[in-house]
Amino acid sequence: MSEIRAQMQDAVNFIRSHTASTPSVGIILGTGLGGLVEEIETEIVLEYKDIPHFPISTVESHKGKLIFGKLGGKSVVAMQGRFHFYEGYTLKQVTFPVRVMHALGVRSLLISNAAGGMNPTFRRGDIMVIYDHINLIGDNPLIGPNDETLGPRFPDMSEAYSEHYIELAESVALEERIPLRKGVFVAVAGPNLETRAEYRFLRGIGADVVGMSTVPENIVAIHMGMKVLAFSIITDECFPDALEPVDVPSIIKIANGTEPRLRALMKGVIARLDV
Ligand code: HPA
Repeated sequence: MSEIRAQMQDAVNFIRSHTASTPSVGIILGTGLGGLVEEIETEIVLEYKDIPHFPISTVESHKGKLIFGKLGGKSVVAMQGRFHFYEGYTLKQVTFPVRVMHALGVRSLLISNAAGGMNPTFRRGDIMVIYDHINLIGDNPLIGPNDETLGPRFPDMSEAYSEHYIELAESVALEERIPLRKGVFVAVAGPNLETRAEYRFLRGIGADVVGMSTVPENIVAIHMGMKVLAFSIITDECFPDALEPVDVPSIIKIANGTEPRLRALMKGVIARLDV
């Protein structure tokens, strides 16, 4: 058995000793966006620190809990708090919870994040559904020996974000009268925000928003054949020629203010999922 398989098995055994829940939907909530868990009819909450091989969240705005329950009539597991490359974890650690979710039965993964908007038609507080990404983290969670029982050596990325799920999100947005942007997310390592020249470059290579997460989780989910839907909240406007300083508290404030709309979107999509 590969090392990653063995670690997954340890985590699953621990979780199985606490719950028989078989979630079909996994949820990863980003900076300032954890509120969706209030909507979950909770069955059990496990602390990351108790789960074998789970990393522990170091960022204050991220809690460290794995929540099992029902949402929109579906059995879900939600990560309240996620891991980032800039915290010093390897991308294998960052994405380990996605592997565990898959082992528990999750085949649909919903992700949210806070991101900087570079498309000049986007505004602070907007929600964007991600239809594609660019990985500029400079690393990849699949580097190293490949466990063929988990997924292929060279995963296809032609539909990294499920077209069907994007359509579902767009129809929920229309029904709920929530304006929804669509665009390309570029992932960087962070932790510093970008310089003006970097924003100009990132916009120039085809990205609408920039953030420090989501892409590693997406890659591992696709590796295992999961379907992914991801949303970015635009927390700051990153227009190189009109750049204003931002700080993390203001990013979190914008994320919190947008969270109810994102929550309604994610809940509506989950209710319509065919799982
Ligand atoms: N850059 C990178 N990550 C971010 C940003 C940004 O401007 N805003 C929120 N997350």
